[in-house]
Amino acid sequence: MDRYLCCVTLCLLGLGFMQSKAFEVTIQEESKKTCIYANVQVNFTIEYETNKSTQNRVIFPAPDTVTTDGSTCGESGEAPLLRVNFGNNHTWSLNFTRNDTVYSGDVLIFTYNTNDTTLFPDAKRKGLLTSTTSFFDPIPLNATYKCFHDEIVVAQNVTQVYWNVTLQAYAQNATLSREVHCNADNPTSPPLTTLAPTTKPLDKPAVGNYSVSNGTETCLLASMGLQLNASLLAEGKNIWTLININPNTTLSSGSCSNESALLRLNDSSTIVEFYFSIKKSNFYLQEMNVTLTNGSGISQITNRNLSFWEASLGNSYLCRKEQLITVSEDLNINTFDVRVQPFSVKNATYATAEDCFADQNFTVPIVVGAALGVLVILVMVAYFIGRRNQRSAGYEHF
Ligand SMILES: *[C@@H]1O[C@H](CO)[C@@H](O)[C@H](O)[C@H]1NC(C)=O
Ligand SMILES: *[C@@H]1O[C@H](CO)[C@@H](O)[C@H](O)[C@H]1NC(C)=O
Ligand SMILES: *[C@@H]1O[C@H](CO)[C@@H](O)[C@H](O)[C@H]1NC(C)=O
Ligand SMILES: *[C@@H]1O[C@H](CO)[C@@H](O)[C@H](O)[C@H]1NC(C)=O
Ligand SMILES: *[C@@H]1O[C@H](CO)[C@@H](O)[C@H](O)[C@H]1NC(C)=O
Ligand SMILES: *[C@@H]1O[C@H](CO)[C@@H](O)[C@H](O)[C@H]1NC(C)=O
Ligand SMILES: *[C@@H]1O[C@H](CO)[C@@H](O)[C@H](O)[C@H]1NC(C)=O
Ligand SMILES: *[C@@H]1O[C@H](CO)[C@@H](O)[C@H](O)[C@H]1NC(C)=O
Ligand SMILES: *[C@@H]1O[C@H](CO)[C@@H](O)[C@H](O)[C@H]1NC(C)=O
Ligand SMILES: *[C@@H]1O[C@H](CO)[C@@H](O)[C@H](O)[C@H]1NC(C)=O
Ligand SMILES: *[C@@H]1O[C@H](CO)[C@@H](O)[C@H](O)[C@H]1NC(C)=O
Ligand SMILES: *[C@@H]1O[C@H](CO)[C@@H](O)[C@H](O)[C@H]1NC(C)=O
Repeated sequence: MDRYLCCVTLCLLGLGFMQSKAFEVTIQEESKKTCIYANVQVNFTIEYETNKSTQNRVIFPAPDTVTTDGSTCGESGEAPLLRVNFGNNHTWSLNFTRNDTVYSGDVLIFTYNTNDTTLFPDAKRKGLLTSTTSFFDPIPLNATYKCFHDEIVVAQNVTQVYWNVTLQAYAQNATLSREVHCNADNPTSPPLTTLAPTTKPLDKPAVGNYSVSNGTETCLLASMGLQLNASLLAEGKNIWTLININPNTTLSSGSCSNESALLRLNDSSTIVEFYFSIKKSNFYLQEMNVTLTNGSGISQITNRNLSFWEASLGNSYLCRKEQLITVSEDLNINTFDVRVQPFSVKNATYATAEDCFADQNFTVPIVVGAALGVLVILVMVAYFIGRRNQRSAGYEHF
């Protein structure tokens, strides 16, 4: 029953399209006394295996419309239970525990139905799956639990992000006016950033030389260092992980036509594909398709709308500085010392290089500086030659 609470920027978990939905429920005894009240906003992120044995991920909010069948105030000694049912047979349930002075959430069970073809169109395992965890620490018996900030609860392939939560149990029909806030809402306590996903430092990747041949002739040339920066699920947490492509263990392949070119780099289980296209008289990197394999989990990440590494047809593209290609919200690629020529390769050698913008910006002052230096030298040479001529002219006079 691991429980992780932390303040994380929303984008870390790819919740950019979080919708503002909340369920508000009240559980009453037969005598119509309210015992449980909840107003909760939560987004679920579920990782599941597809029928093609790849990993997929679905993100959805708990909707506004829910039922509370199965909930109980906990008569006859059993624990009060808040059971919230929604959608196609999904259930969120939380029971509560108390002693004489405090109460807390006890066991939080989220059950999702992978037969729901809207959310899980391609799930391999069909049926009801559960994720069990805990929710909220003890608070005084006569108080309301409040948390405006994000609370992240991770267990068994499910990440639940809660915010703007109001919870009351053991209410005995009284509106509990005393509010106890979660740590994240408390401005005096620092946010629990230690639990935020971290990235381990890694050496700069080695630069590899790759080529693609079109039958007998080399039709594409590339050299670069590649470092993938992927948000991978490990032990129930998404962690930014760096993966360097090792040229020694990487095979290159691909294809060339006069309108598009593909470079595929295969480093054991990691496959990085670059698709080059032509617009007007320039080529550029238009698409990337990255396959990451970890154990039995495979994820494929594609971006068809890139615009990198542009240069004129007939030339090659060169960029010595580090560049960042954002393939998806879960995958960044750091590139180093890139040189590519996906078209019009002659005699397996690179044509004239077109330097990337930043390098050009950098070379302009150098060129101007060098030109000024040459000018100064020319002026000095002219001055000394002029003086010598003057002197020799003088000697002739005397
Ligand atoms: C519970 O409280 C509400 C308002 O606070 C009141 O209208 C209602 O009569 C109470 N019910 C019982 C059974 O005391
Ligand atoms: C809450 O529910 C869980 C699972 O059903 C159960 O193991 C636990 O004993 C319950 N807690 C209380 C206080 O009854
Ligand atoms: C109730 O539980 C809290 C923490 O779980 C503990 O600190 C407190 O001493 C307990 N009170 C009683 C009366 O058992
Ligand atoms: C809530 O309980 C605390 C002690 O647990 C007490 O000091 C306080 O007066 C109570 N407040 C209300 C509104 O009952
Ligand atoms: C938070 O919830 C309250 C109701 O409990 C609602 O009035 C308010 O608009 C919500 N705030 C946000 C930012 O969703
Ligand atoms: C990896 O990506 C994450 C999220 O964008 C970022 O915070 C981190 O600095 C990146 N690491 C490297 C080494 O680029
Ligand atoms: C694969 O996942 C494990 C944990 O599940 C992690 O420790 C390891 O770094 C991952 N490997 C890669 C290449 O991401
Ligand atoms: C690749 O192989 C060369 C020579 O065998 C070695 O010097 C180099 O360190 C290797 N690079 C990596 C990244 O393993
Ligand atoms: C590509 O080659 C085909 C035949 O080889 C030709 O019909 C077509 O016009 C060429 N396209 C371009 C953009 O050169
Ligand atoms: C991405 O690459 C994988 C493996 O090479 C392939 O199965 C998949 O069809 C490719 N996807 C796209 C959109 O190109
Ligand atoms: C592709 O990117 C351009 C700008 O980079 C953007 O205007 C366009 O909407 C994007 N198209 C898609 C399908 O994402
Ligand atoms: C092709 O390159 C080789 C060496 O890489 C060179 O010897 C040869 O002259 C070149 N041929 C042409 C036609 O440039």
